[in-house]
Amino acid sequence: MTNAAITGWGKCLPPAVLSNRDLATLMDTSDDWIVSRTGIRERRISHVTLGDLAYVASARALAAAGLQGSEIDLIVFGTCSHEDQVPNMASGVQLRIGAATAAAMDINTACTSFLYGLSCATALIRTGVVRNALVIGAELISPFMDWTDRDVAVLFGDGAAAVVLTATTREEGLLAEQLGCYADARETLRVHGMGGRYANRGILYGSVRWQFEGQEIFKRAVHGMGAASESALGKLGLKAEDVNLAVPHQANLRIIEAVAKRTRVPLDRVYINIQRYGNMSAATVPVALCEALEEGRVKPGALLLMPGFGGGLSYCAHVVRWGERTSPRGETKVDLPPNERSALQIVRDVMEAKKVLTNQEPS
Ligand code: UT7
Repeated sequence: MTNAAITGWGKCLPPAVLSNRDLATLMDTSDDWIVSRTGIRERRISHVTLGDLAYVASARALAAAGLQGSEIDLIVFGTCSHEDQVPNMASGVQLRIGAATAAAMDINTACTSFLYGLSCATALIRTGVVRNALVIGAELISPFMDWTDRDVAVLFGDGAAAVVLTATTREEGLLAEQLGCYADARETLRVHGMGGRYANRGILYGSVRWQFEGQEIFKRAVHGMGAASESALGKLGLKAEDVNLAVPHQANLRIIEAVAKRTRVPLDRVYINIQRYGNMSAATVPVALCEALEEGRVKPGALLLMPGFGGGLSYCAHVVRWGERTSPRGETKVDLPPNERSALQIVRDVMEAKKVLTNQEPS
């Protein structure tokens, strides 16, 4: 049987750091509240485009795999913060990495987009349609944030990461997953103004309002990720004690702790980096995977459990068998252009631009 081993990985975090204290200068919140309710201490704010973040992450993943862009047959770009609906984000990465003969598609299941993308790319490798695939999870949330709404503005950040999948006959890569969606709860997370739906309603792209029921999302997240984890492990006849490391979606430390308790994976076998980045939506799991590798938390042959949830409300859990190699084959000089503004200044610039847009809206 053909599997899809993860042979390369790379992340790209924009350098500007927005602390909880920075946020407290913009809205009625505090470091204490944010840390105690979410575990988040800071997040990154991007000075470049979503395509730039994804390109750098992809170049690093290719270098780690020891592959050229021209050897990639498929690019799957998981995101909900597209630059445009058309053309898609994946084709932009395709052009920049020189994957001239690749297929390129975007997937949007909000925060689970990377994991859903991993499923699609793995399936296409298993069936022999493609041999090497690049799967990206990247988000640029900051321009779509309502920076006056403390219910959501403290939770999210920007970032990107990518993995390379390669066909193998070994029992490696994604072995089993459970995908699902609580469509009945889809209105608990809606970002008004983030898509073409608004084009004919006199609302300008960039003028957003977040409809967000935090507590309901919290409950569904714990339930969905817990049940999906049990189900995905069960398909392989495995249990929590077989999991060497869980790399969950990072939305709230309390959610991660509740899922760990429910799935009975002890917290010392759960990778957590939410304190540094907040919720980067589709980028959280691949960035966490890259950092777990950098920190030596992923051992050769490790069994990884990756539970996720997001708008929709989509949920899933993926069981991945790691290969023998845990260090990159190579590195690249590709990097972001330098940044001169502080994160707070970038946010203030976004707020100013939105004010101009809002003033242009028809009354
Ligand atoms: O990937 C999918 C994205 N969605 C999520 O991750 C959401 C999951 N949900 C959550 O993470 C949590 O529900 C939140 C972090 C959003 C909220 O935590 P909570 O413990 O459910 O707080 P709450 O909504 O019950 O609010 C408690 C209090 C309220 O004040 P009162 O009514 O008790 O006086 C809020 O107004 O905290 C207040 N509050 C804040 N205070 C300071 C809400 N946001 C803030 C804030 N700073 N940023």
